[in-house]
Amino acid sequence: MTTLNIAVIGGDGIGPEVTDEGVKVLKKLSEVTNLSFKFKKFDLGAKRYLATGELVTDAVKEELKAYHAIYLGAIGDPKVKPGILEHGILLDLRFYFDQYINLRPIKLLDSKFTPLKNKGPEDINMMIIRENTEGLYAGVGGFFKKGSTDEIATQQMINTYKGVERVLRYAYDYAEKRSQRKKLTLCDKSNVLTYGHDLWQRVFKSVGEKFPKVEQDHILIDAMTMKMVRNPEVFDTVVTCNMFGDIITDLGAEIQGGMGMAVSGNVNPEGLSMFEPVHGSAPDIAGQNKANPLAAIMAAAMMVDVLGYPKESKKIDQAIKKALDEKQVTVDMGGTLTTTEAGDYICSVL
Ligand code: NAD
Ligand code: IPM
Ligand code: MN
Repeated sequence: MTTLNIAVIGGDGIGPEVTDEGVKVLKKLSEVTNLSFKFKKFDLGAKRYLATGELVTDAVKEELKAYHAIYLGAIGDPKVKPGILEHGILLDLRFYFDQYINLRPIKLLDSKFTPLKNKGPEDINMMIIRENTEGLYAGVGGFFKKGSTDEIATQQMINTYKGVERVLRYAYDYAEKRSQRKKLTLCDKSNVLTYGHDLWQRVFKSVGEKFPKVEQDHILIDAMTMKMVRNPEVFDTVVTCNMFGDIITDLGAEIQGGMGMAVSGNVNPEGLSMFEPVHGSAPDIAGQNKANPLAAIMAAAMMVDVLGYPKESKKIDQAIKKALDEKQVTVDMGGTLTTTEAGDYICSVL
């Protein structure tokens, strides 16, 4: 029996509603496998911030180091100015734990859930690897003459050799192992970002020399959005910068079943990783037992997989597949279940 210690940060809005379902499913998984889980809830998010002014304290960061992984719901609340919680909690955790890989699979499990005509599971199956610690997310910039009509606001895109090299190396390695296709697409805007993405281009070629079995492919971000809709089948593994990765994975979420089905692993291959749904706190449906918990449940499955238990993780994947086959899903996917009922259904299959 192996015990995994999981730090649970439900966060804001629908975050705690969906992580509760993920925790419920993991507890069920422990009844049918040799894995067991110990959970500790960390109270972070808008409520704590509004009451105490605290985001992620040093003491919390120190405590988190003792866990095998972090399981997160969502961060962001309309009562707090945009950026404070997102930077102060979510991005701070990604950066502090140097989770430089963001794994975002786009995988259609069942044709009836894609809005794309004539596309099936064989066409929509790619892994997007998003750089996760720099780029436009670095928070470098500032104001000059703020509030005046002479104001200047800068927001710099940071591309370091170290950051670019490590994500590209990981992506090549991933592409080599992911499928028979062994194809890696670099998605950038090198025709305009002639410094930052020039670095990506050069490092893509030089790192690629060490992976002769991987086919190198390139696409500009604008064409990427078009191709993801028109010909998603051309993609296998895709690597991209932080900002573009954010945008194309919402698009990817929609072509594979919606925001309620999209998963994100913030991975530090040498350290502490954090798993979460791609979606946000969805204030419009929070507190109504309406949110789709499948993305959070799939994030729990990805966590188990990345922690080294692929066989156990597959059990959750299979239960999700059954829920889709039987349309035992929430209203956003055309079903009738509530959040808690959808979680109960996955448990009953397990
Ligand atoms: P969102 O993902 O929260 O919601 C977008 C739309 O998708 C909404 O209509 C929502 O109802 C729907 N939706 C999202 N998740 C769903 C689910 N599980 N089931 C059913 N429907 C779902 O994005 P937003 O509205 O742009 O952002 C809301 C807040 O969340 C903001 O504060 C934003 O900063 C934050 N956010 C956080 C994360 C995160 O924690 N990783 C991600 C994205 C946005
Ligand atoms: C995501 C979110 C975050 C991001 C925000 C909330 C900081 O949109 O996880 O996709 O941009 O990475
Ligand atoms: Mn996003």
